[in-house]
Amino acid sequence: MSPPPLLASTREELADALAPRRRSGDPVALVPTMGALHDGHAALLRTARQQASSGVVVASVFVNPLQFAPGEDLDRYPRTFDDDLELCEKEGVDVVFAPSVDEVYPGGEPLVTVEPGPLAAELEGESRPGHFRGVLTVVAKLFGLTRPDAAFFGEKDYQQLVLVRRMSRDLCLGVEVVGVPTVREPDGLALSSRNRYLDPAERSRAVVLSRSLRAAAERAAYGLPAARWAAMRVLDEVPKSELDLDYLAIRTPDLGEVTDPHPATATPARVLVAARVGTTRLIDNLPITLGPVG
Ligand code: PAF
Repeated sequence: MSPPPLLASTREELADALAPRRRSGDPVALVPTMGALHDGHAALLRTARQQASSGVVVASVFVNPLQFAPGEDLDRYPRTFDDDLELCEKEGVDVVFAPSVDEVYPGGEPLVTVEPGPLAAELEGESRPGHFRGVLTVVAKLFGLTRPDAAFFGEKDYQQLVLVRRMSRDLCLGVEVVGVPTVREPDGLALSSRNRYLDPAERSRAVVLSRSLRAAAERAAYGLPAARWAAMRVLDEVPKSELDLDYLAIRTPDLGEVTDPHPATATPARVLVAARVGTTRLIDNLPITLGPVG
């Protein structure tokens, strides 16, 4: 087991923890989280540890109010800090940055925020207006405070990953944004901090999301309409009262519209789904290949 991580709750403590490592030129890897860590986060931390090698791995634990709309689950968002620290220690994290809301937003909501562009109004953004402005603003702040060489994000929140990558590129932040594949339960359900809200009946229904994505992947060689139809057939197995579909979308890997639904050659794409199961909103996605393979 590695030594316990240094715990920083203020900007100064974070700067002090990083100063000696910066002086010796060690690379800095950042894993931003909202806590309630699970095996999906463990995969992020492990990938960061491997890529940073002898460099420094920082995990931030901060439930960011700016990315929750009124009426969303900010107050009931799970907070499991002692367990989070234990996982960080197990995965070899060097510094855990766990600031208060005042520390991140002194004086309240910032006057200047990151405008995430048109993609933020689609898919997740359509039912969560303002969400990605909140995400990109806090990620930009965490980049500013940590000044990482690389930052690690789960593919489970695929739209977030695409937008953070875009922000780093468009604003020349110089941070390599690394996507880490989704970790799944044995039956296929994507790990999420929100899965703990599901009761047993909802939990068994929720698996339909990943099954629908796999069905799309299996039919993708026949083109976009066939992939979509296969996914919808699986989703339709569950009545709307039990699984309220928000969207099923097939997009390009950077979430643009697919212009050729029947490509003549193998073309990478992404299938994404979002649905409410009971009161819990779940999302998932999978890479697929449209058009003939091989
Ligand atoms: O994916 C998350 O947990 C959050 O959106 C993030 C990136 C930590 C920003 O608050």
